[in-house]
Amino acid sequence: MAEPSSNGKQRPDTFEVRILRQDKPGSPSYWERHRVRYEPEMNVISVLQRIAAQPKTVDGKQVAPVAWDCNCLEEVCGACTMVINGRVRQSCSALVDRLLDENPDEIELQPMSKFPVVRDLVVDRRRLFRALQKTSCWIPADGYYDMGAGPRQPPALQEQNYPLSQCMSCGCCLEACPQYTKVELARRPDETEEQFEQRKQQAYDQAFVGPHAISQVMLFNSHPTGKFNAGERLEALTAPGGIQICGNAQNCVAVCPKQIPLTTSIARAGRATTLHSLKKWFGS
Ligand code: SF4
Ligand code: SF4
Ligand code: FES
Repeated sequence: MAEPSSNGKQRPDTFEVRILRQDKPGSPSYWERHRVRYEPEMNVISVLQRIAAQPKTVDGKQVAPVAWDCNCLEEVCGACTMVINGRVRQSCSALVDRLLDENPDEIELQPMSKFPVVRDLVVDRRRLFRALQKTSCWIPADGYYDMGAGPRQPPALQEQNYPLSQCMSCGCCLEACPQYTKVELARRPDETEEQFEQRKQQAYDQAFVGPHAISQVMLFNSHPTGKFNAGERLEALTAPGGIQICGNAQNCVAVCPKQIPLTTSIARAGRATTLHSLKKWFGS
């Protein structure tokens, strides 16, 4: 047995990691098993680094290193999100000791299922960012000269908005949402790369924007400067693929690693879009 883990439990010298791999976009996926030597304080990224250093399966077959994405290593960028032991989360903050408590036999890694796989555990999250673009989730800058301090935000507004501002576009809420279904297109033989990208973007714009974008609309619409474009954002939320697709299953709020009150944002957005539509009908 190896030395005890940080929570005092004895661990085996090695443990197995089962990974769902895919060689390229659109190709079939397959499971592969690796054996990794246990070390205290490991996270899933360090497990993947050990596998990359010696990419051999449990039966000794030499394979290509497993591909994964990461950046900040402190649960801020959202890039390392994957499905670990059946639950979507960040691989940088997923600790091996806790995962082996969940399942002492193995750790299972899969890419998120709602985005097209680029390779192995790397997915293409462009649809997630496209939704933020479609809903104008930013504050427009009208110049780069000094205009003095911005408008003050009262403490109650800061308290409401700060949690929403912590969204890191990780995709966990989208992975858990039953209404957010995968959009994956194959390039046609007669299509240029540019035409294919355009077709993808159109398909993304018709599909559900997702709870992250709805919540960001509420953040920017209550900002003193952002509210000047509130109508434009609400218009995008009532377009095809907007808030009407949400079935209120509340899975999104349960998995958000930043504990963003997504269902509160969705309820606020529902009221705001209804009011926006009524005003439009009555021409005010
Ligand atoms: S509340 Fe809406 S956005 Fe959240 S998981 Fe349910 S359907 Fe998806
Ligand atoms: S709302 Fe939460 S789960 Fe969804 S993308 Fe933002 S941080 Fe991730
Ligand atoms: S590497 Fe940035 S959240 Fe994990």
